[in-house]
Amino acid sequence: MQATSTIAEKIQELKVKRNAVILAHNYQRGEVQDVADFAGDSLGLSQQAAKAKAEVIVFCGVHFMAETASILCPDRLVLLPDENAGCPMANMITLRELKIKKKEYPRAKVVCYVNSTAAIKAESDICCTSSNAMKIVSSIPKDEEIIFVPDKSLGGYVASQLNRPMILWPGYCPTHHRILAEHIIKLKAEYPDAKVVVHPECTTDVINLADHVASTTGIARYCKESDSKIFIIGTETGILHRLKKENPHKQFHAVAQLADCSNMKLITLEKVLWALEDLVYQVKVTGEIAAKARLAIQRMLDLS
Ligand code: 13P
Ligand code: SF4
Repeated sequence: MQATSTIAEKIQELKVKRNAVILAHNYQRGEVQDVADFAGDSLGLSQQAAKAKAEVIVFCGVHFMAETASILCPDRLVLLPDENAGCPMANMITLRELKIKKKEYPRAKVVCYVNSTAAIKAESDICCTSSNAMKIVSSIPKDEEIIFVPDKSLGGYVASQLNRPMILWPGYCPTHHRILAEHIIKLKAEYPDAKVVVHPECTTDVINLADHVASTTGIARYCKESDSKIFIIGTETGILHRLKKENPHKQFHAVAQLADCSNMKLITLEKVLWALEDLVYQVKVTGEIAAKARLAIQRMLDLS
């Protein structure tokens, strides 16, 4: 405990010295979320990055998030405290594969989930996050085809909600796909009054059992505003830190302890400190890819 608070204090000191801001995703370790200036979902984090005044942005999340920050803030130093923190789903589509798909459907618009590489964003018409996917897809005229990449679960959820068929890329989040409907059924039998709240990266079976489907910040908002006292949470377990902190008198049960994203958890408090000490690991997206990807991200931010 003593050691942890010392590291947190050093981080605060160095943050001021470096003129840095710390952004953390809702799936980060609790102690990392606690040292952050802002903790939130992918949309909130990109909005914070876009308006950041600090010279250095320490991004406690995964690689595509730091890339997005670099694209939005080309003149800032963006640091990812562990260079191996990637997103397996973002790596489920390559530029070559997307180009082939676009040739198959030459008139289709490409909507890409923010969980994608800068090169994929650059090849897309517009970006979306889990909190605005419905709005972004709805902004495209109904008579236009849509290729949705790379998450088939989020894409499938949006398609069913909007009654709008889309060409879905077969990517998925391995963490969310470890959450099973049978886990929810079991927990619901134990806590019949609980509300089931899940992320749209979950499978259709799981989504069909939910009282509410939302991004991580949407989940936090719902749990805060709901009169219910017990919640079954179907998303990465890191969110429980924030939920318990914001709602000390409510009960939260993770659907599956296995729903732990090992990439998100690579970032530790020590690595945040080292990032600030050594200014590592720098993530920079430049040139044509950055310019084209910025357009897709900016179109999304303008609609959000
Ligand atoms: P959101 O916080 O935008 O819901 O994102 C979930 C996620 O899986 C990020 O990797
Ligand atoms: Fe990628 Fe899933 Fe981890 Fe998010 S939780 S970073 S989508 S693997």
